[in-house]
Amino acid sequence: MNEYILAIESSCDDTSAAVLRGTTVLSNVIANQEVHRQYGGVIPELASRAHQQNIIPVVEAAIKQANIQKNQISAISFTRGPGLLGSLLVGTSFSKAFALAMDIPMIEINHTNGHVLALFAQEPDSPTPVPEFPFLCLTVSGGHTQIMKVNDYFDLEILGKTIDDAAGEAFDKTAKIMGLGYPGGPIINRLAKEGNPDAFQFSKPHIPGYDYSFSGLKTSFLYFLRDKLKENENFIEENKADLCASIQKDIIDTLMKKLIKAAKDTGIRQVAIAGGVSANTGLQDALIAAGKKYHWQVFIPKFKFSTDNAAMIGVAGYLKYQRGEFGSQDMTPYARTATL
Ligand code: KG4
Ligand code: ZN
Repeated sequence: MNEYILAIESSCDDTSAAVLRGTTVLSNVIANQEVHRQYGGVIPELASRAHQQNIIPVVEAAIKQANIQKNQISAISFTRGPGLLGSLLVGTSFSKAFALAMDIPMIEINHTNGHVLALFAQEPDSPTPVPEFPFLCLTVSGGHTQIMKVNDYFDLEILGKTIDDAAGEAFDKTAKIMGLGYPGGPIINRLAKEGNPDAFQFSKPHIPGYDYSFSGLKTSFLYFLRDKLKENENFIEENKADLCASIQKDIIDTLMKKLIKAAKDTGIRQVAIAGGVSANTGLQDALIAAGKKYHWQVFIPKFKFSTDNAAMIGVAGYLKYQRGEFGSQDMTPYARTATL
């Protein structure tokens, strides 16, 4: 429990480094890349350039904030994939160099697995309750939407997943259609608080089993707005909050319906959410309400551990460290995974 782990996350547009003692997060520094906002989405080449500029200062700040020396670090864990290859390369190369220079082991982490293990992150002096295995986890981010049966820290059984867009993309793309800026999820979340969630209805997907589909919702939203704008060119401006509340409700209803079905079918009553979209307060409220109704114990990662961050990679790193699961210098990043 006294080992210090340095963790690196660079899979998309956030450069992050964290220092943990066991699963306790001592520092978690995140440099957000503002450069992408003007383009309304992440530009891979600009992301990898920004990671290169950020990585050293971010790591230095994480070590300093943790109040330790470099030579106290027992291992370095890093996101090997999935994500943007050029971005992953920066974190992977840095980790290899650091491991070599300090003569410590490297630990590779799958990004999605990291999001789930964020649920186990602790902070000094404030213990957080953690789920017991097996539990269900709805993992929702800009790249993933999955219902998982989590049998163990690294044994994630995927019960259902999106067949097209991820839930985060549904937020980001509908926000873009409304001209709201990037990333759209937090903006929709904020505006939805002032709106009526029943003001508008969009088409709901009918997908069998535990799978999801969000591309129809986006198209239905686009066509709905196109028609409304023909009648009134100020329609979006005049109905912004109601539009946000309605689209958010549709996304949440879709997510929760399958999660409730999975909980009923498996009989599992420990239910969690993870990933960037788990920061959505509407989704959190819906999970808490379902927990009350169906007698679940629910788990929501703290906000700072829900969107991309290195602390979650550090928790996963420590758990692998305990098992002696180390990587080697010939590891290369991967953009996609077959299983997660
Ligand atoms: O986990 P994450 O930081 O990166 C990926 O691994 O993709 O998730 C980013 C996604 C984006 O689509 C963003 O719009 C969404 O999470 N997001 C939210 C909220 N905060 C972030 N979506 C809805 N409500 C939020 N409050
Ligand atoms: Zn992520």
